[in-house]
Amino acid sequence: ISLLHYNTFGIAVEADNFVVISSLDELAELSEMCKQFHPCYVLGGGSNILLTGNVTGLTIFNQLKGIEVIKEDNENVWVKAFAGEKWNDLVQYCLQNNYAGIENLSLIPGSVGAAPIQNIGAYGVELKDVLENVETFLIHENTIKHFSNKECAFGYRDSVFKNAYKNKAIVISITLKLSKIPKPIIGYGSLQNQLQQMGIEKPTIQQLAEAVNIIRTSKLPDPAKIGNAGSFFKNPTISKFRLHVLSEQYNDIPGFGLDDMYFKISAAWLIEKCGWKGVREGNVGCNPLQPLVIVNYGGATGKEVYEFSEKIVQSVQKKFGIVLEREVNVW
Ligand code: EPU
Repeated sequence: ISLLHYNTFGIAVEADNFVVISSLDELAELSEMCKQFHPCYVLGGGSNILLTGNVTGLTIFNQLKGIEVIKEDNENVWVKAFAGEKWNDLVQYCLQNNYAGIENLSLIPGSVGAAPIQNIGAYGVELKDVLENVETFLIHENTIKHFSNKECAFGYRDSVFKNAYKNKAIVISITLKLSKIPKPIIGYGSLQNQLQQMGIEKPTIQQLAEAVNIIRTSKLPDPAKIGNAGSFFKNPTISKFRLHVLSEQYNDIPGFGLDDMYFKISAAWLIEKCGWKGVREGNVGCNPLQPLVIVNYGGATGKEVYEFSEKIVQSVQKKFGIVLEREVNVW
């Protein structure tokens, strides 16, 4: 089947074998199928992948649905959401019920199941800040395994599911520990500015989400209209010394201190300085508003997107000596 409508980059490739999982009973059978067809790939919202060719083996489309409160006390509420739900529907559900904690993660494309894989994050909050546990199905063992927050080994856009358990664990559900008492996180620069513009000092979670939505829609292209997978690269980490050397030449380089030794710097800035912002080659381009996003203007192949991204990597390396790492999963 064609995967064109299963990836937000809008790349037209075929999957040799495609199976939809919509109930837990189907998991055992899946285990059998995976013995026959491999490798096994799990597809969620398809918002963080670049497909560079037809997908062999088995493509599993996770459609497990449901959102429920499983526990609460005076302060907190534990919300369980199944992997096939849209992430933003979960955010909406929490906003409607006044459960605080993921309002900064409003409007992130993709599914609930994909959220822990790359530890989604935006505007000062990461999934790991609110995640209690992840329920998974181990395909090859045909068993259920729960991962605590610690066991997920979350890092910046990273987790155990991208490493030791890559293509081995299928996310069934995630449980979030949310708060009934909002503690707004408004320190992120552009968020602060936006709230100021709106004349809001102490935002409700709904106002905070609204501010995030305004920023996102102002510079991130809507994947429903123009193919993309959000940030294509990660923001690189460099040493304090390296930043010091670079800032002698470029005094506007944006660095964010991670600790005493290391700084995260803006990949968008590096890409812009190399002259890529708004550049288009054929059907592929570097987004004019937020250069960290690579877009498919329509009809691009995954290989074309990859080659374009490789040119960006090469030029950033040549100019700054920094190797950009891709944030999207390349299949
Ligand atoms: N910048 C430029 N030129 C531009 C745009 C931005 O130089 O045209 C520089 C500015 O210095 C700006 C800085 O980049 O202050 C940061 O920009 P932005 O706030 O847009 O954040 P980002 O680092 O580009 C990251 C995440 C996004 C997330 C935002 C907000 C990564 C790889 N990306 O982007 O996540 O929404 O912060 O928190 O960490 C994603 O992962 O797909 C994603 C969109």
